[in-house]
Amino acid sequence: MSEKATLRLGSTAPDFESETSNGKISFHDFIGDSWVVLFSHPDDFTPVCTTELGAFAKLEPEFSKRGVKLIGLSANGTESHKAWIKDIDEITGSKLTFPIIADPERKVAHLYDMIDYQDASNVDDKGVQFTIRSVFIIDPNKKIRLILAYPASTGRNTAEVLRVVDSLQTGDKHRITTPINWVPGDDVIVHPSVSNEEAKTLFPKFRIIKPYLRLTPLDVSEQK
Ligand code: BEZ
Repeated sequence: MSEKATLRLGSTAPDFESETSNGKISFHDFIGDSWVVLFSHPDDFTPVCTTELGAFAKLEPEFSKRGVKLIGLSANGTESHKAWIKDIDEITGSKLTFPIIADPERKVAHLYDMIDYQDASNVDDKGVQFTIRSVFIIDPNKKIRLILAYPASTGRNTAEVLRVVDSLQTGDKHRITTPINWVPGDDVIVHPSVSNEEAKTLFPKFRIIKPYLRLTPLDVSEQK
């Protein structure tokens, strides 16, 4: 495992082996043929992160329906993770079963460039780093499709992560992109590579707002 990588959209998600709350994994084997949402935390028993893990666990059935596996990471060991999971379930009413990667030496955090600009000295009075709060969406080809980094102050939005999964999967299936605040069922944008002639066949109901902005409904059942 190399110490540092410059990861961009389209990069192959680096492989690694790690202990998790559910046993040892090789990350690429874990991905298999699925989509994966990998999200990270700097420390167990931190308040914002507790609410986030509970929320991801409660939304897991929606991710599963879309062929997405969830996996967390926190910069502590497995015994600590297991105790934290008990708290998370007690506090949020979740039944968290997906693995949480044990990363006490922050090797995976460095591999995925989850540490903030200010470097590892940016810690609170307990030595907890204020970052390692990233979200990666990885596709079945193991390519990174989304990278988000959150500050410690701000809880993530599980609905937004699910929305991006829906957009990516819809865009992979049809020659479309999705506009601001799109959710499944809304009109989509005809991909710029599609000519108007092709669009007449592909999207019979498409309409031209401007030559560069063409909208079309998609059959809702086809959107996921
Ligand atoms: C949290 O509340 O989850 C949190 C606290 C300190 C650093 C990062 C996260």
